[in-house]
Amino acid sequence: MGQRETTQERLNELKSKALLGGGEARIAKQHAKGKMTARERVDAFLDPGSFEEFDQLKTHRCNHFGMEKSKIPGDGVVTGYGTVEGRPVFVFAQDFTVFGGSLSSAFAEKICKIMDQAIRVGAPVVGLNDSGGARIQEGVESLAGYADIFLRNTMASGRIPQISAIMGPCAGGAVYSPAITDFTIMVENTSYMFITGPEVIKSVTHEEVTQEELGGAHTHATKSGVAHLTAVDEQACLDMARELLSYMPSNNAEDAPIVPTNDPFDRQDVSLDTIVPDNPNKPYDITEIIKTVADDGVFFEIQGDYAMNMVIGFVRLGGRSVGVVANQPMILAGCLDIGASVKAARFVRFCDAFNIPLVTFVDVPGFLPGTDQEWNGIIKHGAKLLYAFAEATVPKVTLITRKAYGGAYDVMASKHIRADVNFAYPTAEIAVMGPEGAVNIIHRKTLAGAEDPVAKRTELVDDYRETFANPFRAAELGYIDAIIQPRETRQRLIRSLKMLENKVDTNPPKKHGNIPL
Ligand code: HXC
Repeated sequence: MGQRETTQERLNELKSKALLGGGEARIAKQHAKGKMTARERVDAFLDPGSFEEFDQLKTHRCNHFGMEKSKIPGDGVVTGYGTVEGRPVFVFAQDFTVFGGSLSSAFAEKICKIMDQAIRVGAPVVGLNDSGGARIQEGVESLAGYADIFLRNTMASGRIPQISAIMGPCAGGAVYSPAITDFTIMVENTSYMFITGPEVIKSVTHEEVTQEELGGAHTHATKSGVAHLTAVDEQACLDMARELLSYMPSNNAEDAPIVPTNDPFDRQDVSLDTIVPDNPNKPYDITEIIKTVADDGVFFEIQGDYAMNMVIGFVRLGGRSVGVVANQPMILAGCLDIGASVKAARFVRFCDAFNIPLVTFVDVPGFLPGTDQEWNGIIKHGAKLLYAFAEATVPKVTLITRKAYGGAYDVMASKHIRADVNFAYPTAEIAVMGPEGAVNIIHRKTLAGAEDPVAKRTELVDDYRETFANPFRAAELGYIDAIIQPRETRQRLIRSLKMLENKVDTNPPKKHGNIPL
């Protein structure tokens, strides 16, 4: 046999070993849990036939605990690039069938290689996580490998979009790579994320908690806000990652792709005229307005089950990707609280980093009162949202549907913090506070001395409402550019965004700002 045939045979053998990962028995175990293998996930995620693999033959270099005898080509992570809807995307998929997907230094090098390449060429990185954490046999080398990845996550932040899919265990410090990335999607029932697991918690705090309760998809989608999206199964998770990418540019120097639509740009919708109730204390669902206005009625909501008094997500308006931030009057009357502020602030910064215009729907009675909020730092957390909106230089269009009271008026993309176009519906009420609260303070003495305090109060409240609880004063001052009829919303937003298409605005030169963390 010639040299060429021998080499080819060796290559074939190594390749089939790599393709088999941890072997048939472990693959069967993976399937029995309802999980795909790393390679199956990569194929299910990328456009068919587009995957180009790197480092398929790379192995670990550990010689402890008999590890030198078990080397598997590829070493537990599949890395490379392919396309999603024709655009390049880098991907790594941790392979639980190989040493439990645990991270060796060689494994980390593979991930770092594609991250470096992605940063250089300006393409997103999507990580498919399923790992027992640091490769125990490698000790500190594995910890170093994690830190190398965290550094790259940080350097890539704001340069290229990063998405983490959690499709199995993700524990200890390993959670910090997904935490730095822009969006985390968790698969229900088969994935979990925590810093310390149930056993450690039990021994330290005597709390008893299951893995699912502690760090499953539902927990992180509702309680911690760590998960931006959850998926019923792995295919749904990978489809969500693809859909999410469709709203983003490949990097911070590009614009998001335009998706042509047959939905007329000037479509008016009379149903909008009655969504906001006449009674200012009656709730309504802000997502109804968002969906009615969006291209083809599609709203891709993010963190829909967390801090539900704030709604965030993507729509397209006239084919262009737009980030939506909206108060939700159905929950806590749409008040701003800690969760809502942090949720929206991070989203605003994502959109600003990646040239995605912001449309803000405002119906906010103010900040949520209470010791819980004050003691947990609503001052600094609310400031995050204010800061994020203020520093954002992307096109910013704001629509006040009803209430815009107090500091929350300023925070929610007001004219004063550089929103470009500010609209209000005729139902808008823009003032320091609601009529009842205001009358209690400024007319305390009058009310105390009134013959009929109830009648007097009604009179004063009506008077205040007429003077301040409307959009006219703000419009007179130019803080509102136009009072629009609800039915025209789509057309007015699209026109504004078209006008702002080539907006250029900058912040003063600096190393970086100091957002109140
Ligand atoms: C080496 C590991 C491993 C690890 C799992 N394996 N985790 N090998 N290092 N960290 C191996 C197992 O030995 C086993 O090998 C195979 O992977 C599958 O593991 P099982 O335990 O059989 O699977 P399962 O029952 O599904 O349990 C999964 C698991 C468990 C819950 C993840 O394996 C586990 O608790 N692993 C250890 C987790 C851990 O403590 N990691 C270090 C945390 S510290 P065989 O040959 O039998 O198939 C950390 C910090 C990162 O990660 C810090 C970054 C800064």
